[in-house]
Amino acid sequence: MTYSFTLPRWFDAHVHLRQGNLLTTTIADQLSTGCASVLAMPNTKPPITRISGPSSETSMTLSEYHDELMNHGADAFENLILPLYLCHQTTPILLEQGVREVELKACKYYPPKGTTNADHGAPIEHYIKQGIFETMKELGIVLCLHGESHSLSHEQYFDQHINAEKDFYLNTLPRLIDKYPALKIVCEHITTKEACDLVSSADANVAATITPQHLLFTVGHLLRGFNYHLYCLPLLKFEEDRAALRQAIITPNQTHFFAGTDSAPHTHKTTDCGCAAGCYTAPVAPNLYAMAFEAAGCEFSSDSTLQLFKNFMSTNGCQFYGLAESTKTFTMTKTASELTPRETNDGTLVPLPTGLNFTGTEHLLSWSVTI
Ligand code: DOR
Ligand code: ZN
Repeated sequence: MTYSFTLPRWFDAHVHLRQGNLLTTTIADQLSTGCASVLAMPNTKPPITRISGPSSETSMTLSEYHDELMNHGADAFENLILPLYLCHQTTPILLEQGVREVELKACKYYPPKGTTNADHGAPIEHYIKQGIFETMKELGIVLCLHGESHSLSHEQYFDQHINAEKDFYLNTLPRLIDKYPALKIVCEHITTKEACDLVSSADANVAATITPQHLLFTVGHLLRGFNYHLYCLPLLKFEEDRAALRQAIITPNQTHFFAGTDSAPHTHKTTDCGCAAGCYTAPVAPNLYAMAFEAAGCEFSSDSTLQLFKNFMSTNGCQFYGLAESTKTFTMTKTASELTPRETNDGTLVPLPTGLNFTGTEHLLSWSVTI
């Protein structure tokens, strides 16, 4: 049956818009799905590690990145949150300057070398010693965490019983929460049962974003035929993990979990020695999320599913970041939609699920969006 529903425009609490030539495409794609507001990640080149004034070869300022985004159409977003990239040079004084000058709302922790352009991050202990988290708590700045342990052996990085994310949520985050119980934390793009369990049982100041790819696929989808468009970090995990993520989003009245696509455009996905990490989902994120809710057992003909989906897409993230829910709407219709690669001046972007090489139908887009 073909049916439609209309929701307040949604908030993507974790997206990579990038820079330069890509911006026109990434921002237009994001807006085309009824996305009202975004939190745009600071792992640019160079990274966004200072607040205002001119950028340098090693550091971009938040104010310059803000202006670059605005010049490429980001003024159409209702809210644009730009976190500061935590690094060795971050100081409490810099954070105070951020709040004063640009209403700094969030900072991003990257595990050193943990993902695309994470090479500038310092270990968690560094920020504890420097009083960074203490100052963030006092100023009400949200800590956006890429929750993976960074100094593990290859065996521990991804093995049957342990992996970098599991290790982080079992051994590091509980300590952090004990030390800073009032710090606002968003566990970004969680992928494991351990992360779900921790966030579900935490207080309201600890929340998590979940990507469409981690809700829809497991590592088996990536590995069979090496579907490298599914290669992202943290890696896709196992069925038990995916089941926990699905349970998290369909738990009635849950407020801990919300949309954060981690849409990450790469025009050169394969490299001479490996593969760039990131799935580009900007043009189809609500479609993919709706498919994930269905895969989790929900039917959109029911009011309870609509409420769960609205909370996840449009309400919980706004409430966590103190944003007003959008008064504009977007409409989703249960009908197949077509998707084509995006040509940019930097090369081609292949959005999920285009490029996946499955024999079944589980990856075909079964929803379309109108705004
Ligand atoms: O897969 C990913 N891609 N994970 C990240 O954490 C970063 C992102 C990117 O920037 O490409
Ligand atoms: Zn990301």
